[in-house]
Amino acid sequence: MTALDKLFSPIKIGTLEIKNRIVMAPMTVDYANADETPSDRQLAYYSERAKGGAGLITLEVCTVDADHRYQAKSLGLYSDHLIEPHKKLVDAIHANGAKVFPQIAHTGPESLAPFFRNMPSVGPSVVRTPTTMQVCRELAIEEIPALIEMYGDACVRAQKAGYDGIELHAAHSYMLLGSFLSPLRNHRNDAYSGRKLEGRMKLLLQVIANIRQKCGADYPIVVRLSGYEREAGGREINDTQRMAPLLVAAGVDGFHISGGVTDNNITQLIPGTEYQQGYNVAMAAAIRQVVDVPVMVVGRNIDPVAGEKILQDGHADMVVMGRALFADSELPNKAKAGLLNTIRTCTSCEDCVDTIFQNIGVHCAINARCGREAEFPLIKTASAKNILVIGGGPAGMEAARIACEQGHSVTLYEKSSQLGGLLSLASTMHRDNYRFLDYLRAEMQRLPVNIKLGTEVTPEFVRAQKADAVIIATGSNVTTPNITTIDDANVVSGTTLRQLLTNRFAHDTLGERVAIIGSGIVAVELAEFLAKKGKIVNLVSSDNRLAGEVGKKRRGEESRRLDTAGVIVNTGVQIDNIANDGVHITVAGKTRVVLANSVLIPDVHSANTALVDALQDAAPIVTAIGDCTGFGLIKKAVVDATVAIHALN
Ligand SMILES: Cc1cc2nc3c(=O)[nH]c(=O)nc-3n(C[C@H](O)[C@H](O)[C@H](O)COP(=O)(O)O)c2cc1C
Ligand code: SF4
Repeated sequence: MTALDKLFSPIKIGTLEIKNRIVMAPMTVDYANADETPSDRQLAYYSERAKGGAGLITLEVCTVDADHRYQAKSLGLYSDHLIEPHKKLVDAIHANGAKVFPQIAHTGPESLAPFFRNMPSVGPSVVRTPTTMQVCRELAIEEIPALIEMYGDACVRAQKAGYDGIELHAAHSYMLLGSFLSPLRNHRNDAYSGRKLEGRMKLLLQVIANIRQKCGADYPIVVRLSGYEREAGGREINDTQRMAPLLVAAGVDGFHISGGVTDNNITQLIPGTEYQQGYNVAMAAAIRQVVDVPVMVVGRNIDPVAGEKILQDGHADMVVMGRALFADSELPNKAKAGLLNTIRTCTSCEDCVDTIFQNIGVHCAINARCGREAEFPLIKTASAKNILVIGGGPAGMEAARIACEQGHSVTLYEKSSQLGGLLSLASTMHRDNYRFLDYLRAEMQRLPVNIKLGTEVTPEFVRAQKADAVIIATGSNVTTPNITTIDDANVVSGTTLRQLLTNRFAHDTLGERVAIIGSGIVAVELAEFLAKKGKIVNLVSSDNRLAGEVGKKRRGEESRRLDTAGVIVNTGVQIDNIANDGVHITVAGKTRVVLANSVLIPDVHSANTALVDALQDAAPIVTAIGDCTGFGLIKKAVVDATVAIHALN
């Protein structure tokens, strides 16, 4: 058992004792009712996170102003009628053993008022917010006192609803307080001027005073700040070090340290895989040196052992986890019990953010239950079945895992000699995928799944097993795109390319210049992987889009990583042929050559229903999942598996 003594020791924020030092980050999940009250979906989602063992849950943004909502389905605390609905949420979280603070915010420039109220958003100065692309209007100084009252009133409602304290959002040069605090957004010349420390802090201090006056001296207040805005002209860490003691003197009981400012890919607020775990830790440590109240740190904290080290090193008092708790709400309990390799670790794939952009609320690519807890409850089956799973890729393993957990008896057949399927290849190129692959493989070891490797099943064999249910997860049909190849062109595709990848890619066998045909996510990740190995890499595609299978946030990150790795991207071109000097293309009516010693053509995947068709009558229930029903990413495998197994009960 790993000793995580510090992580699981209690701590006080003001007068409030928290049972451990794992804090759930504020994350707007877009599950609320349209009237900004907590929905049943939210109750189930937060209850599960509380049950999972985090000491403190920070609720997502709760807005203080009825005119300025944050998201279509986010929460409000701007009116007394919202107290009762919030009480239900608080009770559900308390009943599951966690303390809870709502994140209190006026959305300021980030408000959706232009869309929902047909009025502009507001800010310290006129700025265009990169997330909505709207321009806010500058607040008149006479309007500010009413806004201060709104903060205090919202906190009184939070107190009445039973929240254990509140977090004020003042980070990321974002929303109202963050914008006033930042010289990047606050260009005022009055008493609130962003040029001077007193000016930019003024609103935050007035808000804190108002909350203290209305909620009393003991009601815990945490302030979320960017330690360093990481932008030319933005606040430096020494500015936050000067601010922090002044905020403590004003009544702040703790700090939640993040970093950076908002941009249109929310790059540093929600970091991609290129950011190391705990990348804000040094800033938290700097703040901890100047105050005596607890300092929390956020930012890709996915590993409880690394979290323990942050605490042991004295860099912070509490570790904040965001996406890690979408991926596995039980992470704290599992860590406490020493069951570290049963943790389903976030792969930073950004699907949770991209699903918000799709207006369906947060989904997690590796945890289909996130936000669908009531739909897919953790149950033990009342009618245990003999289930035969065919295929040991992510869909097959996830199906076997859930079925076993529910109490079914499961046999999994995999024709190759190892579990993993396409996820093994995907992990070679994009190493964060290993976290999920390792998790599934470890679960197959831990659970009583009867695994038969190296066994290709026939329809007759399956029928003879007389299983109650057959789950077919045999993967897609793979073909190589048909491109004219001349003479002795060095093309690597199909089995050869897959073998190279399975062997962790013997990239030395490729020439110095590599061209990859395609611009889908596989081609993009392969390009980045090879460029980092020192190859000169060209992506060549007739499609205009890069990584069209993933959402805006992930695509933005992939595109930046290609840029950083020096990959040359040629999309929207006509591919004429591949010859021994490279790929011949036509662009804007002119023929050109993309020079390459080796040309890689990744597989194209399509549905493969042959076995599914042959097995329709092989058992009372026959269900096809994963890529054999059409190519998808990890998310499709996981959702299909979850739906299929829950349908058995
Ligand atoms: C879907 C999603 C919604 C978020 N909503 C908020 C929010 O309402 N308020 C906030 O301050 N931060 C928000 N964040 C940022 C997180 O609090 C956190 O800082 C970020 O996810 C980095 O932590 P992580 O790497 O542990 O996920 C959100 C993040 C995600 C992924
Ligand atoms: S969707 Fe991806 S980034 Fe978001 S929590 Fe799940 S694994 Fe992590």
